[in-house]
Amino acid sequence: LELLAALKMEKIGVAMTTPMFTYLEKQLEQRFNLFKLWIHPLNSDYLQQNAKSIRAVVGCTKIGADANLIDTFPALEIVASFSVGIDKIDLPKCRVKGIRVTNTPEVLTDDVADAAIGLAIAVSRRICESDRFVKSGSWTKGGLGLGTKFNGKSVGIVGLGRIGSAIAKRAEAFGCSISYCSRNEKHHSGYKYFPSVVDLAANSQFLFVACNLTQETKHIINREVIDALGPNGILINVGRGAHVNESELVSALLEGRLGGVGLDVFENEPHVPEQLLELENAVLLPHVGTDTIETTIAMADLVIGNLEAHFRNEPLITPVI
Ligand code: DGY
Repeated sequence: LELLAALKMEKIGVAMTTPMFTYLEKQLEQRFNLFKLWIHPLNSDYLQQNAKSIRAVVGCTKIGADANLIDTFPALEIVASFSVGIDKIDLPKCRVKGIRVTNTPEVLTDDVADAAIGLAIAVSRRICESDRFVKSGSWTKGGLGLGTKFNGKSVGIVGLGRIGSAIAKRAEAFGCSISYCSRNEKHHSGYKYFPSVVDLAANSQFLFVACNLTQETKHIINREVIDALGPNGILINVGRGAHVNESELVSALLEGRLGGVGLDVFENEPHVPEQLLELENAVLLPHVGTDTIETTIAMADLVIGNLEAHFRNEPLITPVI
């Protein structure tokens, strides 16, 4: 029976939107009839001829499933995202068409929170700048300026979901006081709730962004918030680039209205505003918050697990819809 079920799955067409992780690609290839859209794009004859056989799409934060992609596959049943963020998936369209959607929550929470704290310390203790200082031979010529403490500071978190809570837990261990702002007030004992991001920023020395990207949270970090955080404040974003109005961020840094910034995400990845590249108080990562071997494998296994569950008519492991 197992063998029969496996043979049946081999015929199911699954489209992968872009190269993500070789292990995931191999696992998909072993189980399904895999179509790689970077080799056979949507408008290619080959893909068009096979479009009707494609019942699943595997997307990620780079290329998800927009309306055009969804419409290309008339038999599409499920979109499995190799990410927790689902902002690159046209959810309303999936809802209307009855297409299921899954993501990869939980398994990546700790790594993203670790990356957020790493960024905070890297910016405040000038870790990357210090590394460049030593490697460039400057140490023999003089000293580097002082950093600022992370431990004991007031930390504000925008979005107290899984990742925001994991950041809070870590910051608590550093003796920080925690405040937050969240879609739903959660009355977390010991954490102070602010209904407005501006007020949260005004009461924080470090502001972490860890919420989902929606219409409401786009550019939630604007000039007003940045000015409330102030010239000694440090902003950390591990959510999505579009949470931050990048041109207002760049102006604030250039004018000394913000102390520093640590970013793992950018609005137009892989493009980064050029002026940020020159700034010592900006630590920039190429969207690697989840990028550990262990977590990336766990995310891939969740994608596979969700697809297999769907095609076996079993409950999805991590359904979004
Ligand atoms: C996610 O899972 O959404 C992360 O941003 C990695 O893509």
